[in-house]
Amino acid sequence: MNAISPRDMTYVRDLVRRHSAIVLEPDKAYLIETRLAPLVQQAGFASLQELIAALRSNPANGLLPKVVEAITTHETSFFRDLHPFDTLKTQVLPDLLAKRRPAQNLTMWCAACSSGQEPFSIAMLLHESFPALVGGRLRIIATDLSSAILARAREGLYSQIEVNRGLPPALLAKHFDKQGLHWRIKSDIRRMVEFQQSNLAEPWPPMPPMDMIFMRNVLIYFGLETKKSILARIRTLLKPDGYLFLGTSETTLNLDAAFEPVSTGKTVCYKLRSAKNP
Ligand SMILES: C[S@@+](CC[C@H](N)C(=O)[O-])C[C@H]1O[C@@H](n2cnc3c(N)ncnc32)[C@H](O)[C@@H]1O
Repeated sequence: MNAISPRDMTYVRDLVRRHSAIVLEPDKAYLIETRLAPLVQQAGFASLQELIAALRSNPANGLLPKVVEAITTHETSFFRDLHPFDTLKTQVLPDLLAKRRPAQNLTMWCAACSSGQEPFSIAMLLHESFPALVGGRLRIIATDLSSAILARAREGLYSQIEVNRGLPPALLAKHFDKQGLHWRIKSDIRRMVEFQQSNLAEPWPPMPPMDMIFMRNVLIYFGLETKKSILARIRTLLKPDGYLFLGTSETTLNLDAAFEPVSTGKTVCYKLRSAKNP
């Protein structure tokens, strides 16, 4: 594998930061080299140096999104960490449904949804436990920076390894069809999720006020100011009694005092301080 020079390393770090807000520490040379190696081959370059030279000479040549895509972590799984989904089912949805009577219409945003396992887990949970919300009463908007990963999410096609991670066998049997070596999620679940491309670090597309926001395992990649600016915008988007879910290693503490953590079992979710908690 080609070693990246300090100058190229600085260039790639700046480029990734400008286009995704992802902060790569200077000691991440190995990560950049290993993640860009397949792209060097696919795009027909002889070396990493050649790929970076092509980017420098013409940053608009289509390579840029592929480089950001290759460097981004898309790690996800069905019902990742499990306990946030339990909290959603046993606390959050019952609380919001009681408050939204009689219409009980709810909207949720699944930000940084990667290849779709997170929003589809929520859609399956609704199907199983809140069937009355299926059919448009709970709108699920799912966004990600990467068009390539969203194309995968829209397809809803998963490998055996992906369905083995976190998906109960009964839900696999009920909501997926076998297609060759893969499993395709059935269209009634697929149709419950609206996928859109959106960069969290740039102005967001117009979105309705949210009852729930899942923004898990993405703030961790950003610098302090980006995290603060995203939380400030969530403040205006989340309804006063809405719920924010972050990843288990993420928090609003020391970033935005408007949010207060609410612990339920193993899960910590966040509410706006002015809201009356249940
Ligand atoms: C580690 S995955 C998290 C997936 C899922 N939320 C979960 O917890 O399993 C992080 C995702 O954030 C997306 N991402 C990174 N930077 C982003 C940005 N600036 N705007 C929107 N999405 C971004 C990546 O494309 C990737 O799919």
